[in-house]
Amino acid sequence: MEYQIIDGKKTSADIKAEIAQEVERMVAAGKKRPHLAAVLVGHDGGSETYVAHKVKACEECGFKSTLLRFEDDITEDELLKTIDTLNSDEDIDGFIVQLPLPRHISEQKVIEAIDYRKDVDGFHPVNVGRMSIGLPCFVSATPAGIMTLLERYAIPTTGARCVVLGRSNIVGKPVATLMMQKHNPGDATVTVCHSATKDIKSICREADIIIAALGSPGFVTADMVKPGATVIDVGTTRVADPTKKSGFRLRGDVDFDTVAPLCSHITPVPGGVGPMTIVSLMKNTLSAAKKEFYS
Ligand code: GUN
Repeated sequence: MEYQIIDGKKTSADIKAEIAQEVERMVAAGKKRPHLAAVLVGHDGGSETYVAHKVKACEECGFKSTLLRFEDDITEDELLKTIDTLNSDEDIDGFIVQLPLPRHISEQKVIEAIDYRKDVDGFHPVNVGRMSIGLPCFVSATPAGIMTLLERYAIPTTGARCVVLGRSNIVGKPVATLMMQKHNPGDATVTVCHSATKDIKSICREADIIIAALGSPGFVTADMVKPGATVIDVGTTRVADPTKKSGFRLRGDVDFDTVAPLCSHITPVPGGVGPMTIVSLMKNTLSAAKKEFYS
C-alpha cells in the first residue's frame, strides 16, 4: 500500500510563517512582540538542544525571547524566587522551565509556582484540569502538535478507534483526553495501554490510529498494525550511531521500515511530531500575548 508521510517539519514551518505574519500585523498595529522566557537548569544534552530550538523558533516567529541559565546546584528556593520574578514581569507573556530538573528540586512544586496564565507549557494543574473538561487553556505542546497534524492531514478521528501507548502526564494522558473530546479532531474511542496492559498487540491491531509515546525504540512492529491505520510516533530515544557527528541518532517508538508499508499515514522520526511540539509552544505564546484564554 502507498503510505503518506505526515511531514511535521513542513507543517511546523508553515505554521511558524503564519505566526510570523500575525506578529508583524500586531506590531504594525502598535502592539508589543510576544515574549517567551525559558529557564534552563544544568547542562543536560537533550534539554540544551530543546531550549536552543525553542529560542530559534522564537526568532523565526518574530518573538522576543529570554534565556535564563542556572547551574544545577541552584536551590529550590532560588528557582522558586526566579519564577516569582517571571510571574510578575509584565513584559513576559509566557515562560517555561525546561524539565527534567535536578533531583533536589521538586518539579511539581516548580510547575505549581508558575502563574497558570503564563504557563505556556500547559503543565499547571489549572491548565490540565481546564483541558480535561474542554475549557479554553494552554494545552501542552506535544499533544497539541499531534492534534494539529491530524487536523492538517484531515485524518478522520470521529468514531475512530485510537490506541495510545504510554500514560505520561506530558503526552499519553493529555493526548488520550484530547482524542476523546467532543470535537473534531477528537470524538474517537480511546484505549490507553501501559506497562501493566495485557496483550497490547491485539489491542493495537484494532486501532485506526496508534499514538506511540512510551519511549521504547521500535516497540510498535508490523504485527501490531491494522492495514490502513494512521501511526503517530512520539518516541525520540537517542541511540548510539558512530556514523553521526554527534555520535547518536533519534529512534522512534515505531519500527518505521516494517510498519510504514501497512499505514495510510505515518510520522517519521525525526521530522514528525518533534518539530510540532516547538511550534505548539509558539502558538501558546502567541495566545498568551493576545490574552486569548485569561485576562
Ligand atoms: N522536557 C521534555 N519536554 C518538555 C516540554 O515540553 N517542556 C518542558 N518545559 N520541559 C520538557
